Amino acid sequence: MTTLRPVSANVVWHRATVTRARREAQNGHRGAILWFTGLSGSGKSTLAHAVEEALHQHGCRTFVLDGDNVRHGLCGDLGFSAKDRQENIRRIGEMAKVFMEAGVIVLTAFISPYRADRERVRGIVERGDFIEIYCDTPIEICESRDVKGLYKKARAGQLAEFTGITSPYEAPENCELTVQTGLAELDVCVHQVADEMIRSGIINAENFSHDSSKKS
Ligand code: ADX
Repeated sequence: MTTLRPVSANVVWHRATVTRARREAQNGHRGAILWFTGLSGSGKSTLAHAVEEALHQHGCRTFVLDGDNVRHGLCGDLGFSAKDRQENIRRIGEMAKVFMEAGVIVLTAFISPYRADRERVRGIVERGDFIEIYCDTPIEICESRDVKGLYKKARAGQLAEFTGITSPYEAPENCELTVQTGLAELDVCVHQVADEMIRSGIINAENFSHDSSKKS
């Protein structure tokens, strides 16, 4: 686990008495980062929100950090160069870590196209805290959906550095889970993520049936 050294030598870490472990015991589940990665239009946000809905209905504490939303605020000063995307993912990683330490299951939906940037986030938390989920939708499907009309703009040369067209996407090589968000039903993908969370010990199988009619 690595963290950046602060620029100032005069900042001292203060330890909380309400620890992550105590928060997790109170919540009845572990805090964790579910990191959804994939092309624009691959279904990351849709899946993250659907998983969140299911978890919330089962009494879990959750929060979704979404690419387009975060770029309106915290990362509103960043563009889409490799350097800006790196900084985008660094800030989001740090924010996700704070949520996780607060006992929350945080679900992030960012293209996060560079393997090194995703690995850097993995490196700032403990093993088992970072679950990388690849939304493996072929670009042809993303482009045919083109919900925001951005692929069309990119093909027409009106949008520079667009992922998959004029900017690279590096697919995960060793992620915890790959979901075929372009082919499989949403419900099936949600179950796959929930199963992975149970396998990783984030949530409890007894507490989490796939029957979403439980708590509200
Ligand atoms: S990331 O590469 O830094 O992880 P992020 O997920 O925050 O990207 O933002 C991606 C969203 O920004 C896309 O879903 C799309 O709506 C929008 N967007 C605008 N311009 C671009 C671009 N050049 N490349 C990719 N996405 C873009």
